[in-house]
Amino acid sequence: MSLRDPRDAGEKPENAVIEKIGLFDGQVVTLRGWVAFLRSSGKIAFLEMRDGTGTIQCVAGPHDVGEEKFKLIQALNLEDSIEINGKVKKEARSKVGFEIILQDILLVGKTQEFPIGKKEHGVAFLMEHRHLWIRSSKQVAILRIRAEIIRAIRDYFDGRGFTLVDSPILTPNACEGTSTLFETPYFDSMAYLTQSGQLYAEASAMALGKVYCFGPTFRAEKSKTRRHLAEFWMVEPEVAFMDLAGDMDLAEDFVEYVVQRTIRNKKDELAILERDLSALERVKKPFPRIRYEEAIEILLKKGLPAKFGDDFGGDEETVISQEFDRPVMIHRYPIDIKAFYMKRDPENSKLAMCVDVIAPEGVGEIIGGGQREDNLELLLKRIEEHKLPMEAFQWYLDLRKFGSVPHAGFGLGLERTVGWITGVPHVRETIPFPRMMDKIFP
Ligand code: 4AD
Ligand code: MG
Repeated sequence: MSLRDPRDAGEKPENAVIEKIGLFDGQVVTLRGWVAFLRSSGKIAFLEMRDGTGTIQCVAGPHDVGEEKFKLIQALNLEDSIEINGKVKKEARSKVGFEIILQDILLVGKTQEFPIGKKEHGVAFLMEHRHLWIRSSKQVAILRIRAEIIRAIRDYFDGRGFTLVDSPILTPNACEGTSTLFETPYFDSMAYLTQSGQLYAEASAMALGKVYCFGPTFRAEKSKTRRHLAEFWMVEPEVAFMDLAGDMDLAEDFVEYVVQRTIRNKKDELAILERDLSALERVKKPFPRIRYEEAIEILLKKGLPAKFGDDFGGDEETVISQEFDRPVMIHRYPIDIKAFYMKRDPENSKLAMCVDVIAPEGVGEIIGGGQREDNLELLLKRIEEHKLPMEAFQWYLDLRKFGSVPHAGFGLGLERTVGWITGVPHVRETIPFPRMMDKIFP
């Protein structure tokens, strides 16, 4: 067996990858991977192998590889690991446009009976075997799209003068209310796993102007829905000298960029998932912007009971989003149903200067954000009203004592975004190893 050169991106024949097999038309290459499918008769074997970048068919007859290796091929099992040498040949019927005429094969690791076979498995079974399930072509496609979305997010902010500032994961106080906090011993006291990096992003914005943080966040959500994880990733831009209108401009520009770039760069993976791209192609600026009260009117018109002061769940969001052909921004929710840090609307003190972005196709809220309360006295009052421990927020209040400025930001949930773009309805498949109320294994 020969090992791969990890510094090479699959552009040398002895280090080839299926995704870039077109570079080697007519040449002999080495591929390393796993058996994905095998079909053989006495005279010829068709071996499909996967290497993480794609799947390709390898063809072998006894005269190509010799009797002994031919027998080895015929005895292969699904998920046996192999290294092959073979000649790259154009093949119009192949998805990758090529096949491999085998010259040699080496069995690297034997598989007894792979638990995930060709037959249909229930989700519970697949989730128990998540560490193996991620090898399947759909799961690989989702994970590759996730990685591309992360790259797109970073490129968007890095290319527009934002500085990445990571917020801590262990924190002394709540950001999004106390009901979904994970508590953990912290030396002689207690700490919480962060629900959002926002408060630290605000401090960082006062130091660096335009910042974003991007990392795992945690919520002890007691809801078993298809959109809630206990551990999820959130990207949170925060900008000094920006108001709610600027925040909405930023959100729509950002979402358009991430969606359009992902469908441009990940066509093959989206095809594996049979994603209908027409809905995503429409995700272009400007997004419709409606006030919370208009959203209530839509719900009433559609026969749903709704009144001022109600928060929206998945059902309401779906109904509202069906009115539009692209993401919709709902702004100025009642302040009483929103977090303590929201700025009041100067024109109506019952409303918060906030925005939620609701993705279409039943996906629901992907972004929550808004303008922050920048007045010290009003913020003090809000912390009291929310019965939050004043002591823990002293540092945050300092931001309003020393050169306070209007500022705003938002948080985009990565897994819901991946679910939307891939068309996968449940967030459990959008993160490698999901953490949910009833799930922390494997
Ligand atoms: O609306 P949320 O709670 O907003 C905040 O946390 C703000 N502090 C962000 C900010 O302004 N910097 O959460 C933001 C997004 C949601 O729109 C959703 O996409 C995602 O985070 N999210 C979840 N995703 C998966 N599982 C959960 N339990 C989630 N909770 C929120
Ligand atoms: Mg929200």
